[in-house]
Amino acid sequence: MTRRLAVLISGRGSNLQSIIDAVAAGALDATIAVVVSNKKDAAGLTRAAEAGIEALHLNPKDYSGRGAYDQAIVDVLHQRRVDLVCLAGFMRLVGKPLLEAFPRRILNVHPSLLPSFPGLDAQRQAVEHGVRVSGATVHFVTAELDGGPIILQTAVPLLDRDDADSLATRILAEEHRLYPEAIRIVLDGRWRIDGRRVVRRD
Ligand code: GRF
Repeated sequence: MTRRLAVLISGRGSNLQSIIDAVAAGALDATIAVVVSNKKDAAGLTRAAEAGIEALHLNPKDYSGRGAYDQAIVDVLHQRRVDLVCLAGFMRLVGKPLLEAFPRRILNVHPSLLPSFPGLDAQRQAVEHGVRVSGATVHFVTAELDGGPIILQTAVPLLDRDDADSLATRILAEEHRLYPEAIRIVLDGRWRIDGRRVVRRD
């Protein structure tokens, strides 16, 4: 059965685009039921609308607090019978209502090799630390920021001439490949979580 995705964004939406493209190419047996942004001017909302996908702006200021806002997202996702939630540049912490409504069904993409450099500006953190290799990670979302079980990672070497922007560009290209693949793996269902590890079955 074709599964129903929600993609949560805050900005540019290039990872959203990679998921839209993977669905259109038949690489993902899924449909994007709704795209939700906490920012009104998110370019990703336009990308969604252009692809014929319902695109909603939910303004946190319209709700009494984080719990109420998260509950509003849950209500939208339940109404659209969403199976899997994909965070794609969604710049908010995910709270309890959402985590409890979609246990092990929320994914995120992060531009570093976690657990190195969680949080904001991961590419700048990597350059400033002077690591030789960084990369991209897709993981399950838990209450711990960028801390859930890891589904896929890929390495990206740092070059001597790199700054945060040039590194971010090369990592982003890998994110676009990695995220649809991780979604495919999760939807496929042949995995279990063992402690912190995502263990796959053949
Ligand atoms: C990506 O680098 C992603 O890893 C991070 O935020 C950025 C979002 O970019 N969480 P986009 O909106 O998908 O283009």
